[in-house]
Amino acid sequence: MKCVRVNLKEAEKVKKKLTDLEVFDDNYLVEKDEQYIYFPINGIVNDYEIVDKNLDRKRNHLSFEDLLKNKLEDEEIELISKSFDVIGDIAILEVDDKLLDKKEFIVEALLKSNKNIKTVIRKKGIHEGVCRLQDYEFLGGVENYEALYKESGILVKLDVRKTYFSPRLSTERLRISRQITPDENVLVMFSGVAVYGLIIIKHSKANLVYCVEINEDASKYAEENVNLNKFSNKIRLFCGDVNEVVPKIGKKFDRILMPLPKTSIDFLDLALSHIKKGGIIHFYCFADEQEVVKIVSSIKERCKCEILGIFKCGQASPRIFRYCIDFRVL
Ligand SMILES: C[S@@+](CC[C@H](N)C(=O)[O-])C[C@H]1O[C@@H](n2cnc3c(N)ncnc32)[C@H](O)[C@@H]1O
Repeated sequence: MKCVRVNLKEAEKVKKKLTDLEVFDDNYLVEKDEQYIYFPINGIVNDYEIVDKNLDRKRNHLSFEDLLKNKLEDEEIELISKSFDVIGDIAILEVDDKLLDKKEFIVEALLKSNKNIKTVIRKKGIHEGVCRLQDYEFLGGVENYEALYKESGILVKLDVRKTYFSPRLSTERLRISRQITPDENVLVMFSGVAVYGLIIIKHSKANLVYCVEINEDASKYAEENVNLNKFSNKIRLFCGDVNEVVPKIGKKFDRILMPLPKTSIDFLDLALSHIKKGGIIHFYCFADEQEVVKIVSSIKERCKCEILGIFKCGQASPRIFRYCIDFRVL
């Protein structure tokens, strides 16, 4: 399992920091040796050394999987426990219809094994429409859809039914933030509740981040999130269609993010006309391993550019991946 390893002298301070970030895994015992202490974690941590170490589970603590044994088949348990996300105190499951008659056991096991979870819902269908919204069904606990989530040192508030948000992109957001050089002006198209913008401000020395989002609910949360994190001097929010808003901003940017993998190709010309010479575009798409090569070729046909990298940053189905194509416009 993943642990943070720190010098014994720093133990108290680091434990508090991990607890504040909600990544300290209270289900396991902390271990020490002569020089170091090992803290179990269940989330992404950037500022400390991460090591793999097997820590003992606390006595009397039964895991989600333990609690479901004898109620569900092993394969069913594996499928559920591998595929669920937690956003704040909301657990989002992918549960097949045929397991719905066992939902009481599943909810009870989740609430008992993970004290931070208060609400259990399941995905219904896929992300749909211009705003990429996902339908959910309430399974148990407290019926609530608004979450306060911590990621890489920032706070994000959102309603899972009214806005798009994926905790699975946290590593990708950090990957982008770490490339940003001081004083860049960055445009985040399709910015949702402004999570990319917040992470960029937290983890880079960007000058200003401009966020454009069409969904009014997401834009309201974005405003709240900018205030929650006290970043209003660093982020400019715009609610509307990028096709209308971006030309009105009237600027060229050092970097443009295009996190709308299903249709970002339709907005490539817009991005190309607002990127500075030498600027970088992060272009997201869904594709299989052959299709992504064709997408790269079509980008090269539309502009003179240098491809900096093609990154797999998620999986939509067994063959289809979420890619980010990073390229510099020459
Ligand atoms: C896949 S989500 C990504 C949201 C956010 N960047 C994130 O990672 O959490 C795409 C977002 O683009 C927004 N969107 C779709 N078409 C748009 C357009 N033409 N102009 C502005 N925003 C748009 C949707 O409402 C949605 O919030």
